[in-house]
Amino acid sequence: MHAHDGDRSGQTPADFWEHRYSSSERIWSGKVNQVLADVAASLLPGRALDLGCGEGADVIWLAQHGWTATGMDISRTAIDRAAATAQAEGLEPERARFIAGDLTEVPEGAYDLVTASFFHSPVELARADILRQAAERVAHGGHLLITAHADPPPASDISDGHDQRFLSPDEQVAQLDLDPELWSVLIAEKRARQATMPDGRQVVLEDVVVLARRA
Ligand SMILES: C[S@@+](CC[C@H](N)C(=O)[O-])C[C@H]1O[C@@H](n2cnc3c(N)ncnc32)[C@H](O)[C@@H]1O
Repeated sequence: MHAHDGDRSGQTPADFWEHRYSSSERIWSGKVNQVLADVAASLLPGRALDLGCGEGADVIWLAQHGWTATGMDISRTAIDRAAATAQAEGLEPERARFIAGDLTEVPEGAYDLVTASFFHSPVELARADILRQAAERVAHGGHLLITAHADPPPASDISDGHDQRFLSPDEQVAQLDLDPELWSVLIAEKRARQATMPDGRQVVLEDVVVLARRA
């Protein structure tokens, strides 16, 4: 993330994120999030949905590892970039599909894996609501994976945003409010990750990882 983008009053989430993506050639590393790669490698590939997929690295990785993956993001520029990268990687459009839109309405469908990596925002985001809706889209026997910042990431404006709270693993599980008759929580923990800051410094960051399986 970059430093502050100035006054955000009156900016809709779509305007904010569209401006964020279109102001830079690329925001993210283009590499899969390691937690997703580690967790998905232990699952049988099927249909996957990535919430707030950004420039599509996780969707592309999933598609390259046997999944039929759909990514959704509020920024049209991010989605166009993701689709262009998938095409350049030689992926069929039905293997890696991208939808531009607001996840306030999570698309209908049944998915074997619903994943959300760093689904945070400095502007309005009904994150809890969206994650609960997304859990309803998980097929029987499927999984819900959430990877989130454990603490405000350094050199980022994610931390001073609208209604932001960085949840502990237990708080994240509680917020999902999953029916214990239907769901088993397989992972609820913090994991350390090596990251490179914009100034080149190497730091260790902690992520919250929650993996739940639907019966
Ligand atoms: C911090 S980024 C994470 C991007 C990507 N998942 C990753 O791990 O690099 C959060 C993403 O959520 C998207 N987003 C924010 N609010 C959204 C909403 N209401 N509906 C869909 N996407 C949204 C943003 O456009 C942004 O790409």
